[in-house]
Formats: sequence, structure tokens, C-alpha cells
Amino acid sequence: MQINIRKDDFIYPYFVVSGKNKKEKIKNFPGVYRFSVDSLLKDIEESKRLGLKKILLFGVPDKRDIRDNIVASAVRKIKDEFDDLIVMTDVCLCAYTSHGHCGILKAQSVIIDSRKTLEALVKIAVSHAEAGADFVAPSAMARKQVFAIRKALDARGFKDTKIMGYSAKFVSNFYGPFRNVADSAPKFGDRSAYQLNFADAKNAAREIEDDIKEGADIVMVKPALAYLDIIRTAKEKFNVPVAAYNVSGEYSFVKYGAKQGLWDEKKMVFEIMTAIKRAGADVIISYHAKDVAKWLS
Ligand code: PBG
Repeated sequence: MQINIRKDDFIYPYFVVSGKNKKEKIKNFPGVYRFSVDSLLKDIEESKRLGLKKILLFGVPDKRDIRDNIVASAVRKIKDEFDDLIVMTDVCLCAYTSHGHCGILKAQSVIIDSRKTLEALVKIAVSHAEAGADFVAPSAMARKQVFAIRKALDARGFKDTKIMGYSAKFVSNFYGPFRNVADSAPKFGDRSAYQLNFADAKNAAREIEDDIKEGADIVMVKPALAYLDIIRTAKEKFNVPVAAYNVSGEYSFVKYGAKQGLWDEKKMVFEIMTAIKRAGADVIISYHAKDVAKWLS
């Protein structure tokens, strides 16, 4: 069967900062910006006009404090303005902790304090649901995060708020440009205590299965292009929609290569998106989404 790329295949990521009238460039991440909410609303308007219907929101707080709630306030304004837009929110701590790890650590270590981390993630997820998020997307890779969030959402009457689990998230070099967005690279150590080892595919399948058992409505594989086999396994083994995250490094490869005249950007993007879909992705989170929507218009 011939695979066609459609606008509906995409989730477009956005980064939100406090302030007014901001559209800030990001180092090594061409075409992607940090928006204040007012500018964000204008950009979403444009994305919608181009035919995109799903966004994934990341918060970039002023101070590294897990009580910051820039995402919830952005979601409220987005939901006030647009009624037919699916709003998903990233739920993680790496942009909010002083050390840049995805969870709260036990003293003097890179060992995640599971209880405190889950407590913080649940609080954030509930605040996003209260603001009107359609999906929350826990990405801390904390054990039982989907279960804890599902339970808390149900207990507070948010049965319709869905969960997209960052189920198989690998320790990856492809996250480079993203870490310039929120300065979220770990200040010490790495993420190997909680993200997956790319040399081990079995573990990934287990993580995906766990997330489904815990109540994930969509499971995600991240990154996408170097992990097509994992996407395929997820699609074949389980009966839940599979999202693939075409991450910042994959995106920048294409952009910088095109700038150097190594390839045609549009052709390259369509080849990559087709490959990700062919592997089994039902939906693709991609910074290319807006360009693709333009090309398809
Ligand atoms: C953090 C997070 C990362 C990305 C999304 N959420 C980076 C990381 O794990 O360091 C990367 C996305 C991208 O590279 O586009 N939880």
C-alpha cells in the first residue's frame, strides 16, 4: 500500500516563555522559537490555518522552580481562543530542576527519588488537565508515572484527559538542540539511570507494555529515525496508537544539510516522514510539521 503524508499525521511542538511579544530564536535549532503566550496564539492561528490540528506544549520557566506553571496558563489561553485544537502538554521536570535531570534526585546522586518525583509529576499533570489540556505527556521516564497520573486524573474527575506516554525514550545524542531551548542538559551525570539504552530493544518493548497496562492512550517512541525497528515492534505487538518523536537533532540534520546544499529539504523531509509512517507510526511529533503543512497546501 502506498503511504501518503497528510497534515493529520502531525503533532507540532511549541515552546512557551513568560513575557509579551516574544519570538526568540534558539541556538542550532533553525526555524524553532520560544514564544510568549500572545505571540504563541498568533503562531498557532497560522498553524491552524495551514491545517495542523494538534500541538505539544513545552514550558520554559524563568526560574528553575517546579512550581512554575507557565504551561497551565498558556493552555487556558489557547483553549479560550481555539476550540478545535488538540492540546498536549509535556510533563517533565528537566527544565525546572536546578540540575536538569528529569526527576527529583536523592541527595548527591543521579538516583531518582521516585516518591517525590511522582508527586511532582502528578501535580503538574493535574494542573494541565485543570487548564484544559486534552492529553498530558509524561516524559520523565519515572517508574509508574503513567499509573500515578491516571489515578490522580480519575480521582479529580478528569476521566476524559488522555495520556500520551513517552514510553520508549532512549538516552540519545539526537536531543542536542532541544537542550538549548530550556538549558535542560543535565549539569552532572547523564540520563542513563532512567532513559533507555539504545543497545537493548527488549527493554523498550517492556516499557511500552508497562505504559499500556498503566493506562497510556498513546505510546511514544523517541527518537524516531534511528529507532524505526522499535516503532515497528510497538505497532505489531500492541493495540494502542503509536507516536514517533522526530526530535530536534533529526530536524537540525535535515535543516543544516539543506543549507549546505547536501539535499533538497522538502524531498528529504517527505522521505523521512514516509519512513517513520511505514515503520508503523500513527502520528509524528515533528518540528517540520508546519513546513510540511505548507508544502501540502
Ligand atoms: C526532556 C525532553 C527531551 C526532549 C523532549 N523532552 C530531552 C531530553 O531528554 O534531554 C527532546 C526533544 C527533542 O530533542 O526534540 N524530558
